[in-house]
Amino acid sequence: MNQLFTPVRVGSHILKNRLVMAPMTRSRADDEGVVGELTVTYYAQRADAGLLISEGVFPSAMGKGYVRTPGIATDAQTNAWRRVTEAVHTRGGLIFMQLMHCGRVSHPALLPEGALPVAPSAIKPEGQAWTPSGQQDFVTPRALRTEEIAAIVEDYRAATRRALAAGFDGVELHAASGYLPEQFLSSGSNRRQDAYGGAVENRVRFVLEALRVMVDEAGGGRVGIKISPEMNYNSIVDSAPQETYSCLVDQLRGLDLAYLHVALFGAKTDYHALLRPRFNGAYLIGGGLDQATAAAALTEKRADACVFGGAFLANPDLPERFRQGKPLNAPDAATFFTPGEKGYTDYPTLDAAG
Ligand SMILES: Cc1cc2nc3c(=O)[nH]c(=O)nc-3n(C[C@H](O)[C@H](O)[C@H](O)COP(=O)(O)O)c2cc1C
Repeated sequence: MNQLFTPVRVGSHILKNRLVMAPMTRSRADDEGVVGELTVTYYAQRADAGLLISEGVFPSAMGKGYVRTPGIATDAQTNAWRRVTEAVHTRGGLIFMQLMHCGRVSHPALLPEGALPVAPSAIKPEGQAWTPSGQQDFVTPRALRTEEIAAIVEDYRAATRRALAAGFDGVELHAASGYLPEQFLSSGSNRRQDAYGGAVENRVRFVLEALRVMVDEAGGGRVGIKISPEMNYNSIVDSAPQETYSCLVDQLRGLDLAYLHVALFGAKTDYHALLRPRFNGAYLIGGGLDQATAAAALTEKRADACVFGGAFLANPDLPERFRQGKPLNAPDAATFFTPGEKGYTDYPTLDAAG
């Protein structure tokens, strides 16, 4: 039996299959962070996945890091997302919202009143931000004062509450790709000398506090976390990532989360072998999977479900294509972040292709 198409429990939910759509920023929201009709169509088209994880959504205006990304901080943003969840549910799907606070990976041009981005420490990442007037060099962020951190944690609570009110089936903390949570986790971006920096037990504190309030609001069975050890994206470096992620995952056990989502991109360490035995919920793997490698991971019980990014982006009917062994559309990187339906809602299904 093909394991990809067997149901699986993930926290409070039973997924109808083990194919999960990866969180993918698509930059189709308006300047107020409100999603529109095309986004409703985009997610509904992909509702055959066992679980959809939304694109990264900012929990507060200070968490925005890219032009035209959506938020979950205002009534207008929340009401617009409700249309998405209703459409997905009508088509029999499940959808979690990914909460993404970009921290230092942002720019004053994207933030309220031209504020400086915030981060654990005032260390500038290499590279450029995508702003309304094009790409601009990152700036040196402002280091958060200890007493400011609780309010950012509370933003995750409010965002979780709003996501549930908008009909989401759960929330995922984005703790990968060099955004705020990973900036706290990693020794290269966190030089703090308070309770949130220094020893690994301190560097994991922010992530655990954010998850705690998310669990308070949603229940552990509706909360997941994404990590990507050694991805080193957005200038992230950690001097001892095996130790950092072991310490983090050991402490996740007490939260009884729905899942741990680990996306690996050429890491030298076998993090799946290191982390899976430490975790007590569903284990989701991602990063460069195809049908064969995903099926093998499930058969060998190395994962409970498999996360696909580019393949789901370009193939709204990915489960059906896998079932029938049909070829896949290739994703078009030129339209990943461009406005409009091209490269968003117009990838053909098998039916459309005849
Ligand atoms: C266009 C695009 C946007 C992405 N945006 C996000 C994001 O918002 N949050 C996130 O956690 N990962 C993001 N990713 C990474 C994916 O979630 C996934 O980890 C990655 O694509 C690897 O899976 P794949 O090899 O199956 O594509 C993005 C990837 C792509 C292609």
